[in-house]
Amino acid sequence: MSNLLSLQNIWVEYGDKVVLERVNLDIATGSFVSIVGPSGAGKSTLLRVILGQEAPTRGQIWLDGAPLPPECGPDRGVVFQRYSVFPHLTVLGNMLFGLECAQSPFLSRLLGAHRRTAIAEAEAMLDAVGLGDSRDIYPAQMSGGMQQRLAIAQALIKRPRILLLDEPFGALDPGIRADMHGLITRLWRDYALTIIMVTHDIKEAFSLGTRVLTIDKRRRDPHAPHRYGATAVYDLELSRKIQPVADGDKSITVDVSGNN
Ligand SMILES: Nc1ncnc2c1ncn2[C@@H]1O[C@H](COP(=O)(O)OP(=O)(O)OP(=O)(O)O)[C@@H](O)[C@H]1O
Ligand SMILES: [Mg+2]
Repeated sequence: MSNLLSLQNIWVEYGDKVVLERVNLDIATGSFVSIVGPSGAGKSTLLRVILGQEAPTRGQIWLDGAPLPPECGPDRGVVFQRYSVFPHLTVLGNMLFGLECAQSPFLSRLLGAHRRTAIAEAEAMLDAVGLGDSRDIYPAQMSGGMQQRLAIAQALIKRPRILLLDEPFGALDPGIRADMHGLITRLWRDYALTIIMVTHDIKEAFSLGTRVLTIDKRRRDPHAPHRYGATAVYDLELSRKIQPVADGDKSITVDVSGNN
């Protein structure tokens, strides 16, 4: 099995507060990893570290066998629960903004043929998330579900291989959530993504993920709550829904899924 990401002995400390300790994690190309755990355990912190937004206090992260570059790169996209989109830009403007930053940091505006190509790419991605008819409206005119579709499209237009999702559907109604589950599963397959998703919804974690990881503290000191950090305490590989990968995945998995 090819590992896209490898976290080795990752620690995150703020002063004398230990948030994450000894996190060792190999993430296979094409997997869909759900991360669950109590509030404050350090799930978002772990995503920030993988994104390159925050450096771990100790430990190393490898991406494709090389040290993770110390900044957010186009190979990693992210969607948060809220506020991932820019309210002062239209849907299309939101899509182009990401590309402008990635492709012409000095020009800051896409011009001519580059701009036309970018618009075509943005429109194709908006179609893929079901926002083909919404390119000229503003986020305030959209429902929560539509805003999350836009946030996903915005993350995907840079063609990341890894998509990080931090409770992306947490603020949505159950019906809309079900639609989004269908969407994210389709995008995961169509774009051969590796997804790492934090969720508080255990059912969502199991129904979407190929692997469910629980982050929690292994030990607690009642007199010093910050003394110990959280780590991966349960790590379940689910045998169904394995995304076919090019090099023939031969991993051994345990089926813990009773039903669906
Ligand atoms: N910059 C910081 N300085 C100090 N403490 C921080 C900082 N960022 C995060 N923390 C602390 O790290 C711990 C983990 O926070 P984090 O947001 O990663 O938890 P979480 O598992 O995502 O929680 P939730 O489920 O509520 O989103 C919390 O106790 C938080 O207060
Ligand atoms: Mg969080």
